[in-house]
Amino acid sequence: MKMNPVFRTLIAVACAALWVTELSAADSPRERLSLDANWKFHIGDDWPKALRLDKAGANAGPASEKMFSDAAWRTVNLPHDWAIELPFDKNADMNHGYRAVGPGFETNSIGWYRRAFEISKADEGKRIYLTFDGVYRDATVFVNGWIVRRHEGGYYPFREDITDVVKYGERNVIAVKVDATKFEGWFYEGAGIYRHAWLEKTAPVAIAPDGIFVYSQFKDNVPTGAAAIHVEAELLNKLTNAVNAVVNCEVLSPDGKSVAQFNGSQQVGGELQATLKLQSKVSSPVLWSPESPKLYKLVTTVSVDGKTVDQIETTFGIRTAVFDPDKGFVLNGKPYPIYGVCNHQDHAGVGSAIPDALQEFRINQLKKFGCNGIRTSHNPPTAELLDAADRLGMLIMDENRLLGSDSENIRKWDVMIRRDRNHPSIVIWSVCNEEGSVEWNDQGRNTARSMQSYVKRLDPTRPVTYPAPQGDTVGGINSVIEVRGWNYHPGPDMDKYHAKHPQQANVGTEQASATSTRGVYESSRERGHVAAYDEAPHQWVTSSETWWAWFGDRPWLSGGFIWTGFDYRGEPTPYAWPNINSHFGVLDMCGFPKDNFYYYQAWWTTNTVLHLLPHWNWPGREGHEFRVDALSNCKEVELFLNGESLGRKAMKRNSKLTWKVKYAPGTLSAKGFDAAGKVIAETKVETTGDATTLQLTPDRKTINANGEDVAVFSVTAYDTQGRVVPVAQNKINFALEGAGKIIGVGNGDPSCHEPDTYVSSASVRNVALDEWRWKVVPSSGRNQSVPEYATAFDDSSWNVVKAGNGESTIKTENTAAIYRAHLALTAEDLSGPGVQIHFTGCDDEGWYFVNGQYVGETHDWDAKPDFDITKFLRAGDNVVAVLCRNGGALGGLNPNVTVDIITKPGELPWSRSLFNGLAQIIVQSTKEAGEIKLTATADGLAPATTTVNTKPSTPRPFVP
Ligand code: GAL
Repeated sequence: MKMNPVFRTLIAVACAALWVTELSAADSPRERLSLDANWKFHIGDDWPKALRLDKAGANAGPASEKMFSDAAWRTVNLPHDWAIELPFDKNADMNHGYRAVGPGFETNSIGWYRRAFEISKADEGKRIYLTFDGVYRDATVFVNGWIVRRHEGGYYPFREDITDVVKYGERNVIAVKVDATKFEGWFYEGAGIYRHAWLEKTAPVAIAPDGIFVYSQFKDNVPTGAAAIHVEAELLNKLTNAVNAVVNCEVLSPDGKSVAQFNGSQQVGGELQATLKLQSKVSSPVLWSPESPKLYKLVTTVSVDGKTVDQIETTFGIRTAVFDPDKGFVLNGKPYPIYGVCNHQDHAGVGSAIPDALQEFRINQLKKFGCNGIRTSHNPPTAELLDAADRLGMLIMDENRLLGSDSENIRKWDVMIRRDRNHPSIVIWSVCNEEGSVEWNDQGRNTARSMQSYVKRLDPTRPVTYPAPQGDTVGGINSVIEVRGWNYHPGPDMDKYHAKHPQQANVGTEQASATSTRGVYESSRERGHVAAYDEAPHQWVTSSETWWAWFGDRPWLSGGFIWTGFDYRGEPTPYAWPNINSHFGVLDMCGFPKDNFYYYQAWWTTNTVLHLLPHWNWPGREGHEFRVDALSNCKEVELFLNGESLGRKAMKRNSKLTWKVKYAPGTLSAKGFDAAGKVIAETKVETTGDATTLQLTPDRKTINANGEDVAVFSVTAYDTQGRVVPVAQNKINFALEGAGKIIGVGNGDPSCHEPDTYVSSASVRNVALDEWRWKVVPSSGRNQSVPEYATAFDDSSWNVVKAGNGESTIKTENTAAIYRAHLALTAEDLSGPGVQIHFTGCDDEGWYFVNGQYVGETHDWDAKPDFDITKFLRAGDNVVAVLCRNGGALGGLNPNVTVDIITKPGELPWSRSLFNGLAQIIVQSTKEAGEIKLTATADGLAPATTTVNTKPSTPRPFVP
């Protein structure tokens, strides 16, 4: 039968589609392996010559895969932030939280990470990629002594194809030198590989990095009927010949049903990239929203010549999101005020190295007061924050770090948008934050316009904003930006601006900056605490009530983002040392609610809320007049002291109520009434006794035994009647047994200088190996079966090398000799992390053996190799033997050989004081399922013990 060629191609594609959809991801050669575990880490740039710009692949010391021992370095898992390990220093930068890092603290500001990995011979022919999701700040990445990447900028992921320098079937070494000397922001930024790292393997024809873009559209942007599904698949062909790639797409609904299948094919030239655009539809889709975060999945399968070469799953959501000049933000066709917060990436105990589960914890804490949005100020977030926002339901304003349309800044802007554009949680891009020196001028305007128009190529679905700290100002960036962002200035300026620019949508990009310290009701500059009465201590800031009352009445403003959801390190406004953290949060550094939490909960949720402040523990202050606030959405609130009414007051919308009350110990209570005068809420604050008992409460009773999940414990002090003691400041010690480890502690006190984390550093016992005997022998190179290398060989008749006399032992040209030394070790010596040996040179070439086994070799008279010899050693007598061969001059083994015996680090003394009754302990699972038992003890208090189960869970695929 004759067949029309077009028809024939269609059938071929369809057959391929059928065949391919039956395959699972396991058939795809793509592997994405976690590289998080077991890095060796060292603070300090002790190898200034490690980086060599003169010769390829010759980088030395820790940058090299050989002749370097990192056995004495600490083992860390990623994400890792070493800045929180450093002490506080009054001379360090205030805005970065006074940590001894950055300018002026150069020796603390460079860190080295090292890790070995194996790539099997079977992987030959695949492409091997190394990805770092975020390193603060400048990274030089080496693989097997080659520089593979120099990356500047602390907030962007970077990926490198390392295929060319990988050794198959052998040990490979990645080394990363991280330089955190330079700041990129004016807030705590951390230091180190503070996000995940990955090793990826793909076929030579594969989906390009971040090469799948999937988005939905509705006719006229009205979210009814079918949604059009657009897919752009970028294909990368690393072969030299062209290929025809068949791309099959399948859409799975939130309940896992296949709801669309479509496909196409694309010719991709040799060593080229090509994009295939496909379209389909999903009828009656389930819409994504913060209240109902339903996610679809796109499975994209690529095949060449009928063989699957790649498969990727991409999560996405179907929804419409519009910033409208009149209606404000409109989600799925309905006006939807953004109840948002700005956040930095920073948490108690862990700094910027936030485990994925903690991202989820943080979002859940925010949701409790009705928050539905996060602005990722002032940088692109960790990808897992976006995953959690998609899953849990949070709107995201995704922010770029710096304004710039130069190639490097556009590259970063591009990286961020490509990585993030599939997330339904993201509803708007932000070009940068507050660029005061240029925002008003033509250059600022031009740059923002270029960045904004660049986005349209990558994402036709979302607008761009600029968080402007300006009032009714029209020039510069505001004149071109799609959505006018308002940092502060709630008031008549907004109305004036809106009247003049009725076509421009608006959003409150940053509001309030109200400061308060959890559980503190009298400000103290000395202690660095701000009373939590929601007052505005500075000109440019407002109380929560001021901004929200303004925005709440103007839907066209779209709602806004509070500065900030959580406290963060640095910017201790309005104070300075000893105050080290900010006070802007609705939640403190740990995520414990401050009183403002209840203001927002009252007006941002439909819960009935009634909360009183302050606490009522003021011994010795009888008769003193305290301000008492009721945060509530009840129509009226009546306050009582020890049962006596202090008056009933009507609540205005978006407001709060205040009384003046003379202190008398006892019970301060309140009743809340609805419009019909019915009591709908009651609350009380009591004068408590002293703390007598501790209680530990985990956020979850069961976590995954995957080595990554965390349980967040609160420790609370109670009095004899089971009441939380709001002024308890006891020092608490923690001990953990079982399938987990503590990774950080905090208490939310913005002026506490106690450690966030405790690190184990091994100590090193240095032994001189200076009794050597030697003998001239024929050169045998690497051959380890030479009897003279054996431990038991009798070398007593050999010549003794006179230690350290500086004379060469080999006096004739082209001569080889063996040098032997004995090293006596105990079982105790071998029970630590390891033993390493340092040679000071072998003139001209050396082959090194321990107990008859080959360790390594050098071919440069100037090489000073370090070897980790742990695995060759045993308790008792050990023999180090070196075959040394000289060339045309004098030679021999240099003296001053030393051995480091590394001792086991001791137990870590985890502790933290309560701050106003509370502290937090973050515990991470191991990979063994079991039980984590945490105990909290304090002098004079009954201790608390609680357990969390860790359930068997498959860890994500990882590099051993
Ligand atoms: C804003 C700025 C924020 C933070 C805040 C403190 O102007 O955008 O990063 O510094 O002030 O109030």
